[in-house]
Amino acid sequence: MMKNYVYITRKLPDEVVEPLTNMFDVGMWDYAEKPVERDILLKEAARADALVTVLSDQVDYELLSKGSNLKVVANMAVGFDNVDINSAADLGIQVTNTPDVLTDTTADLTFALLMAAGRRMMEASEYIKQGKWKNWSPLFLAGTDIHHKSIGIVGMGRIGEAVARRARGFEMNILYHNRNRKPEVEQELDARYCSFNELLATADYVVCLAPYTKETEKLFNKEAFNGMKPSGIFINASRGQLVDEEALYQALVNKEIQAAGLDVFENEPISPDHPLLELEQVVCLPHIGSASKETRYKMMGLCIDNVIAVLQGKKAVTPVN
Ligand code: DGY
Repeated sequence: MMKNYVYITRKLPDEVVEPLTNMFDVGMWDYAEKPVERDILLKEAARADALVTVLSDQVDYELLSKGSNLKVVANMAVGFDNVDINSAADLGIQVTNTPDVLTDTTADLTFALLMAAGRRMMEASEYIKQGKWKNWSPLFLAGTDIHHKSIGIVGMGRIGEAVARRARGFEMNILYHNRNRKPEVEQELDARYCSFNELLATADYVVCLAPYTKETEKLFNKEAFNGMKPSGIFINASRGQLVDEEALYQALVNKEIQAAGLDVFENEPISPDHPLLELEQVVCLPHIGSASKETRYKMMGLCIDNVIAVLQGKKAVTPVN
């Protein structure tokens, strides 16, 4: 009998892939860092029973409809905005993601970004490296407190809740805005639900954790940044597409908001001449929210488990559609 064929779009460690190679024929792109070329991916999709993809792969109708064998796309991210879920459903293809295993790791990074932006850590580090540290002065690299300040979380999903838990430890006042209210979170974390505009106007730290959808595209636009306090700090650890980057740049340059911490950008990877990189009050990271070794291994493992489950005719472990 012909074995099922699984194609993996990035090079994964041998020990991660081993359970698949024991059961199926497996093809894998040769590089961990370089994305698979589109024409190769299309060719592989035409013959594959399962694909393991990453968030930079465009899993669109063209790709999903290439072959008739494709049964599952295991996307190595909690976000699945790179996958055309509706077409997958129409074609009877199961899509899976990697929720839960990355919640705390991503919340850690989000909170670190908030702290780095508030306390000007990257700027301070650069200051020493450039040999500028000569004296002490009263307002030398003085930033904004974190403890007892207000945090406004936009998108109270699993990661939002985990960020709120961290905020509680810093005795922050927690506000949130979400598609629906979460009474259990309000009770557990003493979080207050408010409108988007009230959150913008009240929070010292506005933290974007909402998923990227048609409705959230460029949610943080000129008007939103105008609605923040001039001392407000904007953090984005979700998707760059939720932000109008030109409006953010202008808001920072015109001092309509104070600082920003960004782990995600509209077009990733950004080039070194991206305007936001010029601004010393912006902390920029290359989309490393879930990037701890422990968590990345769990995410890879979950993709493999999903592929095995579906190819064995069982229910996916973490289905999206
Ligand atoms: C996700 O899982 O969606 C993250 O953005 C990737 O680390």
